[in-house]
Amino acid sequence: MWNIKNIKIDSHVVLGPMAGVTFLSYRNFMKPFGVGLSVSEMVSDCGLIYGNKTTLEYIKTSDIDRPCAIQLFGSSADTLCKAIDIVLENNKNIDLIDINIGCPVPKVTKTGAGSALLKDTKKLKEIMTKVVEHLPIPVTAKIRLGWDDKSINVFENVKALEEAGVAMIAIHVRTTKQMYSGKANYEIIRDLGKKMKVPLVISGDIYSLEDAIKAKEITGATAVMVARGGMGNPHLVKQIDTYFNTGEKLPDVSLEENIQYLYKLTDMMIEEKGETRAMMILRGIAPKFFANYPNTKALKSELAQHLFTRKDLVGIVNKHIH
Ligand SMILES: Cc1cc2nc3c(=O)[nH]c(=O)nc-3n(C[C@H](O)[C@H](O)[C@H](O)COP(=O)(O)O)c2cc1C
Repeated sequence: MWNIKNIKIDSHVVLGPMAGVTFLSYRNFMKPFGVGLSVSEMVSDCGLIYGNKTTLEYIKTSDIDRPCAIQLFGSSADTLCKAIDIVLENNKNIDLIDINIGCPVPKVTKTGAGSALLKDTKKLKEIMTKVVEHLPIPVTAKIRLGWDDKSINVFENVKALEEAGVAMIAIHVRTTKQMYSGKANYEIIRDLGKKMKVPLVISGDIYSLEDAIKAKEITGATAVMVARGGMGNPHLVKQIDTYFNTGEKLPDVSLEENIQYLYKLTDMMIEEKGETRAMMILRGIAPKFFANYPNTKALKSELAQHLFTRKDLVGIVNKHIH
């Protein structure tokens, strides 16, 4: 359907990286809905270099979740290249390396990593040129519009990244200052995808099929990135993939079906992380499975606070729904 260098991607949906969410079992769960490419949680280059054991957990992949990109963040070519060597030594099944140039969190930007790299196009190009030259597999990048409203430099940065040899660029159409709020503004990069030499993936506020159609049409992107919109609504990926494949608009799923998806994700997370850890993480994810259904406020709040075991989960859902 489309390619990132020699890698064939057979859906127009990319699963957006989300720290604390797109761990392996989440990616494995989302894949069959029609994810063409998924991106891991962001991994610290220094975490890998210092041999942090938990960091190695982040670079696990599976046969189901292919092709898959591991996303790294860092502030220098030297540390990024060292970290990439460690990643590729520890996992031979990684298809792509994605560099995070969009993280707005001060803990990351004050080290010069994440979206701090957006501020200096020349330095960005130098770093990415070295990373691309160092790597035996394609390198992709995820950026934002710019640091703030007054410094939107997405066009310069896209050009610099293309010249550096980056094989695909995902743009989150917000500035760093916006963090994750405010409406994603696709108009700012109208038709950019048609002018780019490498595929553009568009990210920001993809919550419905209509959002995906609009984002792709306005920006000329090759694919859309599903992030928060897919949390609790995996069927969205299927709706988007099906529409871009066949033109068919699938209806939403019933609450009952969505509950079954939640249980499936729960089981996969328990297998990866153990029940206690899985339940702590699910406190943030499980309520989202009810977000599009009426009269679920009490249920969502109970799930967010009282999940300790799988039995609790089923008990809370049955108490409110059945
Ligand atoms: C909880 C959370 C964690 C995120 N972590 C990452 C990350 O590790 N790397 C990254 O490039 N983007 C990260 N993002 C940004 C998303 O990939 C996406 O670009 C952003 O949420 C905009 O899309 P949306 O409005 O459709 O959610 C994160 C977003 C959220 C909400």
